Amino acid sequence: MTATTPTAPLTLQKVPLSSEAARIGATAWQAVCGGARFAARAFGSDDLAATGAGETRNTFAALGPTYVKLGQLIASSPGVFPRVLSDEFRTLLDRVPPADPDQVRRLLTDQLGRDPDEVFAEFDPEPIASASISQVHDAVLVSGEHVVVKIQRPGIKARLAADLQILQRTAAVVEFSPYGRMLSAKAVIEDFTANLNSELDFRAEAAAMEEWTAAISGSRFADQVRVPKVFWDYTTERVITLEFVDAIRIDNAQEIRRAGHDGTKIVKTLLLSLLESAFTDGIFHGDLHAGNVLVDSDGRIVLLDWGIVGRFDDKSRLIVRELLGNLMRSNYEAAGQALAALGTFGKPGTVRETAKDLRRVAAPIGGTDLGDMSYADLGRQLANLAKTYDARLPRELVLVGKQLLYVERYMKLLAPRWKAMSDPQVVGYTAGLLKDSARAR
Ligand SMILES: Nc1ncnc2c1ncn2[C@@H]1O[C@H](COP(=O)(O)OP(=O)(O)O)[C@@H](O)[C@H]1O
Ligand SMILES: [Mg+2]
Repeated sequence: MTATTPTAPLTLQKVPLSSEAARIGATAWQAVCGGARFAARAFGSDDLAATGAGETRNTFAALGPTYVKLGQLIASSPGVFPRVLSDEFRTLLDRVPPADPDQVRRLLTDQLGRDPDEVFAEFDPEPIASASISQVHDAVLVSGEHVVVKIQRPGIKARLAADLQILQRTAAVVEFSPYGRMLSAKAVIEDFTANLNSELDFRAEAAAMEEWTAAISGSRFADQVRVPKVFWDYTTERVITLEFVDAIRIDNAQEIRRAGHDGTKIVKTLLLSLLESAFTDGIFHGDLHAGNVLVDSDGRIVLLDWGIVGRFDDKSRLIVRELLGNLMRSNYEAAGQALAALGTFGKPGTVRETAKDLRRVAAPIGGTDLGDMSYADLGRQLANLAKTYDARLPRELVLVGKQLLYVERYMKLLAPRWKAMSDPQVVGYTAGLLKDSARAR
């Protein structure tokens, strides 16, 4: 199994002890304040869960970008946190005050190696989006093209490096406890670090966009899903310049319908193209939340934000095809065997036991309306199952699952009556997965 990102050595430089100490101080202080605020409010409130979520979110926000990202990661793990908490974290995505315009200008000059006025005819200093790591500006190139310029927040790298060093040390200590080992705290933080690392190099993001485009170009989705064009001349480690895409967010079902697009077709295309890129090409978008998926005026899906990318190596790609193909045709013994080949099971069951458990989780889904089913519930059941077998599944599989959780949200808005699992096209597609994987062996 390959890593979520190419496993480059850690590029975050070691930070001096003094700045680590300063961040530990600030971190501990914010955590204490958060705890105190939570306690003070919680006891006077009826709505304990909502208050707790709000306070937790405030604490994470005050702690800064590393913890916001970590919070998002934790909140999006199925079955780990209640819904109210995941929703709180989602709102953090777009609610970070923008960086100082002078700093932005300095960063652009430094990264582009010339005065920004030589590159941009127009540059709106007010960002259209401002998140924890980056902010996005509307601009027009001197050559006339309408673009967006995503820039990394000035100073973010040093800040993250200090935080990650603390997290790594903490995880190492936590692993001394049995609970910390079960959660594999160190592995979680290592994954997290690798992800952040690749998100901090926009050239990797631009390269992933082109890699995916090349992969999907031979498929029948080539003219139905796309990414914005990259302007490489104005793309560096900390600046990425892309074609401006005028399109509707995928969770804006009303606008999409008003524009005359077929919601079910869009959802089907998104789902099948995700499976196609993951299970045929071995590369897929690893962050499909609604802010990153648009529908353009031709009804094509546009995928933004390639900071997190999943990759399957050939061997696990074939086994995953068998897992999915067999699950879909209700062949639970073969699916169980594929699962066992894929992950490590601390307490393996017999083939028959595994098959029975898989059937229990998967069988009811086939006939359900998409509007009535929840991947989140399915995720929780699968998480329970994983606990029973003490299973560790490859992170790419978990990452694909996470995409389904994101997609579920807007699928329900766009195609509430669509039976995804019994749709003839989906069934035909997954049957094809098995044929091809048999041929490849
Ligand atoms: N090519 C583009 N065209 C139009 N809007 C864009 C484009 N790229 C990004 N945006 C806007 O900026 C927001 C943030 O961009 P994104 O790449 O997702 O950055 P982040 O990594 O901070 O989430 C998007 O949700 C979208 O609204
Ligand atoms: Mg985004």
